Amino acid sequence: MPQQVTRLIVLFAAGVVAILAARRYLVPPTFGEIGHYRAAAVDSIVARKKKYAGHQECALCHDRIAETRLSGHHRGVACEVCHGPAAAHVATPLDVKPTAPRERGLCPLCHAYNPSRPTGFPQIDSVAHNPLIPCIGCHDPHQPEPPIVPEECSACHGQISRQKAVSRHVRLPCTTCHATPEEHKTLPRRARPEKPTERAFCGACHAEDAPSPSSIPRIDLQTHGEQYLCWDCHYPHYPEAR
Ligand code: HEC
Ligand code: HEC
Ligand code: HEC
Ligand code: HEC
Ligand code: HEC
Ligand code: HEC
Ligand code: HEC
Ligand code: HEC
Repeated sequence: MPQQVTRLIVLFAAGVVAILAARRYLVPPTFGEIGHYRAAAVDSIVARKKKYAGHQECALCHDRIAETRLSGHHRGVACEVCHGPAAAHVATPLDVKPTAPRERGLCPLCHAYNPSRPTGFPQIDSVAHNPLIPCIGCHDPHQPEPPIVPEECSACHGQISRQKAVSRHVRLPCTTCHATPEEHKTLPRRARPEKPTERAFCGACHAEDAPSPSSIPRIDLQTHGEQYLCWDCHYPHYPEAR
């Protein structure tokens, strides 16, 4: 037999012996009894102390709060997400009490502006959004509606309002161009305002034959800007002609 083949056989045999030895001495005793894991692991996990009780438990005693939460925006946020593990509290309610996180730090964990959050998730700039006052001063943590329905659009669209305020459109209320359902001010993403969709909308004031006051600058609706939408060239919230 050639020498190199003998060497290979020896090497192979050594490998087999090493694997058999490892299986015998290195694999934990109960491995593989019920599955591809250590059977005794089940017992050691079961032996761990339970820390979380689950929100169903809380409802047994705090039924009013549980009901409130289920009817509001936080229906998907379980009690112990905010109050911490509370199994010990459920066992002995008067001796162990969960903390109630009253400081501003908690809420921005989920609500601080972060571009990677899903579109439409309610986010705020936690530095600029009503600073110095605790979030729960204005929002009930168990039913976090925006507290006061803002009168003006500027409460949320500050940038656009400030820009319009120094433009030639200053005297046009936002609702001239955006029919806005009242619900938009509390559920902005569910109820959306309308937006103009065609040139004729602006033409209602700016076309040569429009019935509006003569002080409004006029254009020939057929030829001016050709087939493009007016707001391809004029920002509607600051429509200065340059
Ligand atoms: C067996 C009844 C019972 C259950 C179940 C129960 N609690 Fe309580 N909880 C109480 C009682 C009693 C108090 C004390 C009320 C008091 O001190 O006025 C309390 C107080 C609290 C407080 C107030 C602490 C504070 O600083 O004022 C929080 C928060 C709380 N529970 C959260 C929970 C959560 C979360 C759960 C579910 C994991 C839960 N509780 C389950 C009975 C219960
Ligand atoms: C989004 C976070 C959040 C969730 C979810 C939440 N809580 Fe609270 N909870 C708070 C905060 C913050 C306070 C303190 C409110 C205050 O002091 O005005 C509080 C206060 C409490 C209190 C004591 C004061 C009171 O209003 O009686 C109890 C009891 C309580 N929560 C129970 C619950 C239970 C039960 C659930 C689930 C059904 C729950 N919480 C879900 C944040 C939360
Ligand atoms: C664990 C994450 C989490 C924490 C912590 C949390 N929230 Fe929320 N919050 C949510 C979710 C989820 C919604 C529902 C979003 C939806 O309806 O699309 C929500 C909705 C809201 C809304 C409703 C916004 C709207 O569209 O009208 C407000 C206001 C709010 N939370 C305030 C708070 C306040 C105040 C706190 C602190 C006490 C807080 N949240 C803590 C997850 C969280
Ligand atoms: C002084 C009262 C006040 C305080 C304090 C306050 N908010 Fe608000 N919050 C409002 C009002 C009013 C609105 C609705 C108009 C707006 O967005 O400004 C609102 C809206 C929200 C929304 C919904 C935004 C959206 O786009 O749908 C979230 C989320 C929110 N607040 C979270 C918080 C958090 C988190 C804190 C604490 C860091 C906080 N708020 C503190 C008054 C307050
Ligand atoms: C509570 C805060 C809030 C108030 C008050 C509010 N908006 Fe909005 N608005 C929003 C948010 C948040 C969006 C963005 C929704 C999105 O992009 O998903 C929005 C979107 C819009 C859009 C764009 C809709 C689209 O489909 O692109 C228009 C137009 C608009 N708002 C007009 C108004 C007008 C007009 C008012 C006053 C009558 C107003 N909004 C008041 C929060 C508000
Ligand atoms: C002269 C009519 C007009 C007025 C007045 C007007 N808008 Fe608009 N707005 C438009 C048009 C047109 C668009 C669509 C622009 C586009 O699709 O590019 C628009 C788009 C928007 C959008 C969508 C986001 C964006 O910037 O494109 C928001 C939000 C908005 N407007 C809010 C407001 C608010 C708030 C006011 C009052 C402060 C207001 N608008 C006043 C015509 C107007
Ligand atoms: C309700 C009537 C009305 C509607 C609708 C309207 N505008 Fe105007 N527009 C005005 C008024 C009033 C002025 C200011 C005239 C003045 O300065 O005295 C103005 C001024 C302008 C100017 C400024 C011209 C200059 O000399 O700088 C432009 C551009 C303009 N609008 C474009 C638009 C566009 C684009 C739309 C559609 C998105 C639109 N307007 C919708 C009433 C309207
Ligand atoms: C292709 C770009 C473009 C489009 C689209 C466009 N405009 Fe203009 N618009 C201009 C320019 C550039 C000026 C300034 C020079 C001029 O007067 O022709 C102007 C000027 C104006 C003026 C001021 C006229 C004056 O006498 O002071 C008004 C009002 C106006 N546009 C409204 C509109 C309306 C309404 C629409 C949609 C029907 C529209 N524009 C579409 C580019 C455009």
